Amino acid sequence: MCGIVGYIGAKPASNYLLEGLFRLEYRGYDSAGIAVQSGDTIAVRKKTGRVGQLAELLKASPVTGTHGIGHTRWATHGQPSDNNSHPHTGGNGEVVLVHNGVIENYATLRSQLQELGYVFHSQTDTEVVAHLVAHQLEEELKLGADPDSNATYLRAVELTLKQLKGTYGLGVLFRDKPGLLIAARLGSPLVVGVGKDEHYLASDASPLVGYTDKVVYLNDHEIAMITANSLEILHRDTGSQTPHIRVLEQTASDTELGQFEHYMLKEIFEQPTSIENAFRGRLDDDEATARFGGLNLDPQELRRIDRIVLTACGTSWHAGLVGEYIIEEFARIPVEVEYASELRYRNPPMSERTMVFAITQSGETADTLAAMRECKRKGHPTLAICNVVGSSIAREADGGIYLHAGPEVGVASTKAFTSQVTVLTLLALFMGRIRHLSYPAGQRMIANLRKMPDKIRQTLECHNRVKEIARKYYTAENFLYLGRLHNFPVALEGALKLKEISYIHAEGYPAAEMKHGPIALVDEQTPSVFVVPRCQIYPKVISNMEEVRARRGPIIAIACEGDDKVAELADDVIYVPDVDEYLQPMVTSVPLQLLAYEIALLRGCNVDRPRNLAKSVTVE
Ligand code: AGP
Ligand code: GLU
Repeated sequence: MCGIVGYIGAKPASNYLLEGLFRLEYRGYDSAGIAVQSGDTIAVRKKTGRVGQLAELLKASPVTGTHGIGHTRWATHGQPSDNNSHPHTGGNGEVVLVHNGVIENYATLRSQLQELGYVFHSQTDTEVVAHLVAHQLEEELKLGADPDSNATYLRAVELTLKQLKGTYGLGVLFRDKPGLLIAARLGSPLVVGVGKDEHYLASDASPLVGYTDKVVYLNDHEIAMITANSLEILHRDTGSQTPHIRVLEQTASDTELGQFEHYMLKEIFEQPTSIENAFRGRLDDDEATARFGGLNLDPQELRRIDRIVLTACGTSWHAGLVGEYIIEEFARIPVEVEYASELRYRNPPMSERTMVFAITQSGETADTLAAMRECKRKGHPTLAICNVVGSSIAREADGGIYLHAGPEVGVASTKAFTSQVTVLTLLALFMGRIRHLSYPAGQRMIANLRKMPDKIRQTLECHNRVKEIARKYYTAENFLYLGRLHNFPVALEGALKLKEISYIHAEGYPAAEMKHGPIALVDEQTPSVFVVPRCQIYPKVISNMEEVRARRGPIIAIACEGDDKVAELADDVIYVPDVDEYLQPMVTSVPLQLLAYEIALLRGCNVDRPRNLAKSVTVE
């Protein structure tokens, strides 16, 4: 959600700033802007709309300078408008800054600053930060602070941060201190890229690829004082920190579209590989179990666990639901799946034997991070199932399992979901084998998992059939998605995919629940998508299909190859390979991803950047 970039060195800053903002587009935004400093002039260019429009503006009205900051805004306070776009200016232009996050006490601060004579030009919460830094700077200088010392500017920022309630990632320039960039983080991610006589700033590592492979992730309550050839990091409580430089493994080709028209389609088709990457090196044939490098818990501790809480948001929460079924079935441990946004404020009784997993693609989702911290505070082993290496959640968790799915750029999560399900299946195997799961059962799970990449390849062959079906139904305004047991979360996920990228109202339900309300929605214009591969309660789902058919509702079915019974009942069928029941979600979710994609295309929607959505939701 929103993006920050910064540069300080010897090159024209606007090149990296613009390129960086293009690379952060996937996070979701509504306006963009940059500020570039040359001597004591800071030129600001900002605009609502796409980064491309900002690029046009910069062509018409260029900026020069070798350090600057940039921002893509996802509005929280004040509608998207040129004035509300960042960067924002404080005082009489002494301070220019970009901000990601939310300042909860902005209204009080705004009145106080207005009383002091500060004039506001936007409705944002951010502008108070700009004026407050300017105000603190003025106060410091009045008290005799040295205007040539970086410490004076640092102090102004520190004094400001003490007064803020909420979250921030900040990049700050000072008109009278060219050559200094200050960044600060609380709750919103920031990464500093270290180059030769130059430094970069970004919300995540993607803008840095190709510029530098040396990165320093800022932690909460840290401030970075950045010049072209120095980087100093200070923590609010512990003072000066030695920058921990890590080497970035991402390459530019990881985020290239290649032959695909959209990232979402590319990522759907990557699933045979991403699933394989999720289990690669983790299958132990000799012990018929899974092996993880980073759980950081010894077998004794793991055996003591008598309850697992999975916490997540959105698609990752759906993956958690699939995980609940599989872990309970194979490891016989009670599992609860909690929305992170609820868990962070609830106080459910959890014994010390409860293990918590935060499931997250980005590793930056604000609610998931907060829920994880809350569980950590209460002393539970708190682990992460995460895709983005070095993300906040990955770093703060006691341990965890990476997905190794590669960057997921499309806002609609696809490959991360199937990788999360793969990892949760491995977890079920692992926890099962230290408890009751037999050796042959473990071996069978391993053999089945190894077949999954091929099964997904076969499933992807349905693409043309999905296109035909999409053409038939894309004008519908409501869809129902129905499935049972392992395929109930798949129904939820299918409905979410359709909603987010095609803006069609869709509801996912356990098929039998339909009778308790949603069946009232069934009519000739409302397609029901049944996820009905062969399973223990297959005849029951068939009955649910009959019920819809009796009310003339069109039916699209996802069924196992050769299932003639379903073909008789459904108007349209998409066939998928037959796999064991607990593995079905990996297979059945794929045609639903494709269906959402094709329908969104036909409706002319922006598939990779759906309206109002952000890739990682870094505000509450
Ligand atoms: C998925 O398609 C969504 N865009 C969204 O629900 C997402 O899954 C959710 O925001 C959680 O993100 P995370 O996995 O990065 O934590
Ligand atoms: N709260 C700020 C605003 O609305 C920042 C939003 C963002 O993170 O982009 O301008």
